[in-house]
Amino acid sequence: MDKKTFYITTPIYYPSGQPHIGHGYCTVAADTMARYKRMQGFDVMFLTGTDEHGQKIETKAKEAGVTPKEYVDGIVANFQKLWELLEISNDRFIRTTDDYHVEAVQKIFKQLYDQGDIYKGEYVGKYCTPCEAFWTESQLKDGKCPDCGREVTEAHEEAYFFRLSAYADRLVKYYEEHPDFMEPQARFNEMVNNFIRPGLEDLCVSRTSFTWGVPVTFDTRHVVYVWVDALSNYITALGYGNNRYHDYDKYWPADIHLVGKEIMRFHAIIWPAILMALDLPLPKKVYGHGWLLFGGGKMSKSKGNVVDPVVLCQRYSVDAIRYFLLREIPFGSDGNFSNEALIGRINSDLANDLGNLVSRTVSMAEKYFGGTLPPEREAADPDGELCAMASSLGEAVERALDGMQFPQALTEIFRLISRCNKYIDETTPWTLGKDPAKRARLASVLYNLLECVRIAAVYLTPFMPATSPRIFDQIGAGEELRTWESASRFGSLPADVTVHKGETLFPRIDEAKELAELEAMLSDPEKVSGKAEEKAPEKAMEKKEEKPAGVAAFSEIVIDDFAKVELRVAQVKACEPVPKSDKLLRLELDDGVSGRQVVSGIAPWYKPEELVGRKLVVVANLKAAKLRGVLSQGMILAADAGENDVKVLFVDESVPNGSRVR
Ligand code: MSP
Repeated sequence: MDKKTFYITTPIYYPSGQPHIGHGYCTVAADTMARYKRMQGFDVMFLTGTDEHGQKIETKAKEAGVTPKEYVDGIVANFQKLWELLEISNDRFIRTTDDYHVEAVQKIFKQLYDQGDIYKGEYVGKYCTPCEAFWTESQLKDGKCPDCGREVTEAHEEAYFFRLSAYADRLVKYYEEHPDFMEPQARFNEMVNNFIRPGLEDLCVSRTSFTWGVPVTFDTRHVVYVWVDALSNYITALGYGNNRYHDYDKYWPADIHLVGKEIMRFHAIIWPAILMALDLPLPKKVYGHGWLLFGGGKMSKSKGNVVDPVVLCQRYSVDAIRYFLLREIPFGSDGNFSNEALIGRINSDLANDLGNLVSRTVSMAEKYFGGTLPPEREAADPDGELCAMASSLGEAVERALDGMQFPQALTEIFRLISRCNKYIDETTPWTLGKDPAKRARLASVLYNLLECVRIAAVYLTPFMPATSPRIFDQIGAGEELRTWESASRFGSLPADVTVHKGETLFPRIDEAKELAELEAMLSDPEKVSGKAEEKAPEKAMEKKEEKPAGVAAFSEIVIDDFAKVELRVAQVKACEPVPKSDKLLRLELDDGVSGRQVVSGIAPWYKPEELVGRKLVVVANLKAAKLRGVLSQGMILAADAGENDVKVLFVDESVPNGSRVR
């Protein structure tokens, strides 16, 4: 029997600027869904791509002194590299400049014209170039684009129109008959109240004021409106109107078009009307997710608040970023991105709850049984409760994922993880381990824990595709015990399972130190300039080959690398808190050569007076940076001394200032 199919799409992204973490948000969500459905046994088609035509790109290319195609080629390559870095498992990638797509769009436009759904007229109205969207006067908000709030321009030109108004009744009827077509519910209300109720007007679908677009075959002064070109990608990528692919019958209609809320209107009104005109089935669902906000506003290059996903992946691992995006923000609503929240999640959920559970369980199996559990068992409370929770987890996760509720799915999985940590406290394996008569009980406890870890790791696979295999390797779960289906069978691990302790899954991050470093990075213009950003994906790919995503291995260096770091003994001459910062101290140092000042995030652990006169080690050749606007010429060495403790590495008083440390 043929497998059931599942077709999911992301929007195709504008390569008018470099990809940012906001783009990653939508793509990671779609990827997680695609992986989940594949694990469930569906034949999945996961499509993403780039939307490369339009006035905005033409203008940007002109500014850069290159052709539009040259302009987009470089950026598209960076999108593709970023998707590779983020472990995005798309089955196809469409570029609207691909010949097969262009040919199909021309056919679609011609067909709509021939059958009278497109007619020639004159466009008089407003146009938002950044959004590539037409607006009527009444749709503007304070005279500006209602989507992005930017200035609109007068547009006045001969144009072709699509008879959108003729489809209003059919659209409303369709929505009524398919209450799940738009999700979440709030989006449905927005569409009906803001667009359908005020009355749909015919849509301008061609432009003559620029040339970077798909030419209208029968009137070549015109190019096809970028949204008609773009929306068609969802079917042209399957082979509709072209011979490049032949999967249209297999995958269309799409199961989910996943889109950001601001482009819901194009997907839930315009695209269905075009499909109705073409006499094609409508997608089953359009899901409008919220925005990832940064400091309260939408992340965008033009606002200068773009968070570089490559830097994030390099610092925290791909899986930590994937986890954070889908755990932190209620899907469908807006949510804030902040480094504090990210570090908090990594430390509490990934390092403490998940990481500790895996490492404790595996360590205990090694310590008490040399890594291989003995076959004898002794059940006792609360085993039943734990098993029941693990056995019902699949249903809860599926319910959440089928409703696109990523945070809920993760919450359910982490409930089991927390329950396991509590189970360890309740059963106290370290006490059982002291008593030879409790050997069978201890084996049961550890087996139950390993099974729960396995089940949790299976359900985490779509979210954290690099981490789950590392867990499976540690707990001795073979391929057949990593499948979705196997997670519903508690007790599948062999009774005499052998574990293999591996590296820490997610090392704890010293928050104060990390935030101080991030701040220093942000004040380093090279790190945030467009140039660094453009190069970043390649750098990350190099990194990726060195170590798998999610692995926090020490990367080896040679002695020459170490020799590049100039470590010197210095004495603290003066010290004071940095104004408006709880974490930073400014230290004036005598480094034996000249004075220097260093800003360090050690205020939570040291009072200034405790440091004055002491000798410590400074990284003397670290590029200067500003922290909270205060110049820092180097960095002092300190050690993580526990959960939330830091100790400065002091040096014996007898060592002269300026001595080299090696
Ligand atoms: N090219 C159109 C889509 C055409 S689909 C037929 C477009 N491109 S875009 O690059 O501007 O945006 C693509 C998607 O990225 C949108 O769904 C948008 O909501 C999403 N995001 C861009 N920035 C975002 C955030 N900061 N947060 C969440 N999603 C964001 O629109």
